[in-house]
Amino acid sequence: MKAVNNTVISVLAVSAVALFAGYASAQTSTIKDGVYTAEQAASGKELYERRCGACHNVDFYRNAFSNRNSQVLQVMFEEILVNMPADTPGSLMDSEYEVVFAHILSLVGYPAGDTELNYANGSMGEVTIVPPTD
Ligand code: HEC
Repeated sequence: MKAVNNTVISVLAVSAVALFAGYASAQTSTIKDGVYTAEQAASGKELYERRCGACHNVDFYRNAFSNRNSQVLQVMFEEILVNMPADTPGSLMDSEYEVVFAHILSLVGYPAGDTELNYANGSMGEVTIVPPTD
């Protein structure tokens, strides 16, 4: 009877670890895990230079990301969506903010990946900001 109990406990323990591992892998994506594509960054360059470049430089963005260490990426994106460009807030389409933001991520040095930055699907809510590497 004791042996049976131990077996049950081991099975439960293994299930708990498996559940935790699944949960953790869904939550551990950071801004350094390739959260935009190189194509997006390239296509946002011209718009970025025309609509954002005059007021900010790369150091400004590096500071902004450092100050937002551990924050969810979606929070920062939504603030830009609502407040930027400061002279004409909210004047871009969501898809334009996506490519402009992808361009900023590339300027700051975060790596590109296979997954597009996508506001509508909520994936930015799963990504944590970590400071850029020096
Ligand atoms: C007319 C000037 C101007 C333009 C154009 C402009 N911004 Fe800003 N931006 C500001 C000001 C002013 C602030 C807030 C003050 C500060 O943080 O220094 C700000 C703040 C920011 C921040 C910091 C947010 C944070 O983390 O606190 C980001 C990121 C940003 N802007 C991105 C953009 C993007 C992207 C564009 C183009 C779509 C843009 N800005 C266009 C003036 C501008």
